[in-house]
Amino acid sequence: MNATPMVLAHQLDSPYGFDNDTPDAANQVHMLAGIMDPDSVAALDPLGIRPGWRCLDVGPGAGSITHWLADQVGATGHVTALDIKPQHVPAGDNITIVTDDIRTADLEPDHYDLVHARLVLTHLPARQAVLGRLVAATKPGGWVVISEWDFTHPDDLTLHLPSPEATEAFIAYQRALTTLIANRGADAAWARRVPTAMRTAGLVDVQAVAAHRLWYGGEPGCLLHQSNSQQLEASLLDAGMDLNQLLAVREAMVNPETLTWQYPLITTLGRRPTR
Ligand SMILES: C[S@@+](CC[C@H](N)C(=O)[O-])C[C@H]1O[C@@H](n2cnc3c(N)ncnc32)[C@H](O)[C@@H]1O
Repeated sequence: MNATPMVLAHQLDSPYGFDNDTPDAANQVHMLAGIMDPDSVAALDPLGIRPGWRCLDVGPGAGSITHWLADQVGATGHVTALDIKPQHVPAGDNITIVTDDIRTADLEPDHYDLVHARLVLTHLPARQAVLGRLVAATKPGGWVVISEWDFTHPDDLTLHLPSPEATEAFIAYQRALTTLIANRGADAAWARRVPTAMRTAGLVDVQAVAAHRLWYGGEPGCLLHQSNSQQLEASLLDAGMDLNQLLAVREAMVNPETLTWQYPLITTLGRRPTR
């Protein structure tokens, strides 16, 4: 692994559809943390993470789970936060921030008590191979925890928007976004495939928990749609949306009348067999 921030050649062909360098990215990764951390912590906490554990957080974004893990493992433990663009992860005494690509990073075998990745493998066409690499880096008896959004129902997220035009624009936005990330190699259904993928990769005791919450206009989930529609504006316009539709989506996302489903968040946990 490379511990110095630098631009890696393979970042240039990254299939990840967003970009931590853009002006909206800091906002985006902090909203992701605010939206999902309670569900991630609820799934991670029962694993009994102890002082001294070594953890790997893959694609940490804002680094909120990196820091939660660092608090659990204490001064005798360690957390590695590995991201192609880790600039939003704050430093910490027992944290190493690594600029690298999980598809090719040099990972020490049998090293980690816990490997966590949230909203990363969905975007990577080599996701099964990446999962295999994460499993190999996990100690026998250690845990791999993968959280992903299920993007398979872009038409079914709408519950109430302020007008028929806003409803139509929001559905068009969800379809265009899903198509965009799929065209870059994302698998919209990967969230539901992870349990089988984990068993294929040799993990045991596989379990999953799903969260399907409501997002109100003006709250972080809807503000994330607003932020993403800005970060991906050029690509969404290329994909056939028009600017008026994007403006209608943004306006609806701050309107307190708006009510949508979140993308269902599925967290799957599997343990590496002990030898
Ligand atoms: C959607 S964000 C999720 C951030 C965080 N895990 C969360 O859920 O709040 C995806 C993160 O994965 C990183 N990422 C994307 N492709 C990656 C790769 N091939 N290797 C390592 N990190 C990657 C991105 O830079 C970004 O920080």
